[in-house]
Amino acid sequence: MYKILEKKKLNEQVTWITLDAPFVARKVEPGQFVIIRIDEKGERVPLTVADFDREKGTVTIVVQAVGYSTKKLSALNVGDSVADCVGPLGLPTEFGEPKKAIVIGGGVGCAIAYPQAKALHNMGVKTDVIAGFRNKDIVILEDEMRKVSDNYYVTTDDGSYGEKGFVTDVLKRLLESDSYDLVIAIGPIPMMKFVSKTTEPFGVKTIVSLNPIMIDGTGMCGGCRVSVGGETKFACVDGPDFDGHKVDFDELMRRNSFYREEEAHACRMEAAING
Ligand SMILES: Cc1cc2nc3c(=O)[nH]c(=O)nc-3n(C[C@H](O)[C@H](O)[C@H](O)COP(=O)(O)OP(=O)(O)OC[C@H]3O[C@@H](n4cnc5c(N)ncnc54)[C@H](O)[C@@H]3O)c2cc1C
Ligand code: FES
Repeated sequence: MYKILEKKKLNEQVTWITLDAPFVARKVEPGQFVIIRIDEKGERVPLTVADFDREKGTVTIVVQAVGYSTKKLSALNVGDSVADCVGPLGLPTEFGEPKKAIVIGGGVGCAIAYPQAKALHNMGVKTDVIAGFRNKDIVILEDEMRKVSDNYYVTTDDGSYGEKGFVTDVLKRLLESDSYDLVIAIGPIPMMKFVSKTTEPFGVKTIVSLNPIMIDGTGMCGGCRVSVGGETKFACVDGPDFDGHKVDFDELMRRNSFYREEEAHACRMEAAING
């Protein structure tokens, strides 16, 4: 069992949860994820490790309540436990040796981008962060991101906070005014697609973190397959980070929406069974 040591709500839908998970904390690197099962009947939920503390043996996940399991997980409290926390899974982010980087987070993707920005900052890399949200009410991790960035830019679709517009507007401006050798983008698939399209003409290495449907998380089931540079890759063992200029984002969007109806149905069934 993995005990919840800390919990804070970042916005209406997003919760920061720190777990006592010393074996994961000992080995995890930025970019890797865990698979959590709330109880022995629970489904497997892949979640990126948003932060970790090797000395304390803790691992932090940031959960957006979108369906049955993430709502149930978000409702747990300090002192409660989850049955399984398996990991670290996937490959750590390969940063290379950049001199100047831009880290982009969209919505809850900011939580996944946070360890990347922190790692680059700790490596002494000049790091600019662009965080994008639909509106002011759902802005998360601003203080944390500011601490690990040289410049922090925030955009909202409706202009209620920061700059009105999309992360790609700021990205284009930065790429035109300075030279960067790495962009990391994590967020909704369309955002990662358009970030990659924006960086391509500038020839800047662009890493995206993909979130296809995952089942076993060990390369056995094929559920998480994605096309990268015309080759089939399994995001759970070959990723989740990939070269954004090579990813077939349209196929990923189609595959991710494939089970939407079944998930909604299963969610209604489980809710009815559990009352
Ligand atoms: C590598 C990876 C890292 C992720 N990191 C985070 C994170 O840090 N924070 C966060 O809030 N979410 C993260 N996700 C997404 C998270 O796993 C899903 O939101 C969650 O599984 C939804 O389950 P549910 O029962 O609450 O919702 P459901 O109603 O079952 O599904 C809602 C939506 O979530 C997605 N989803 C459902 N099941 C899975 C699955 N087994 N694998 C992947 N996606 C699924 C689908 O797009 C689906 O339409 C990550 C996904 C992957 C693959
Ligand atoms: S989740 Fe089964 S192969 Fe990746």
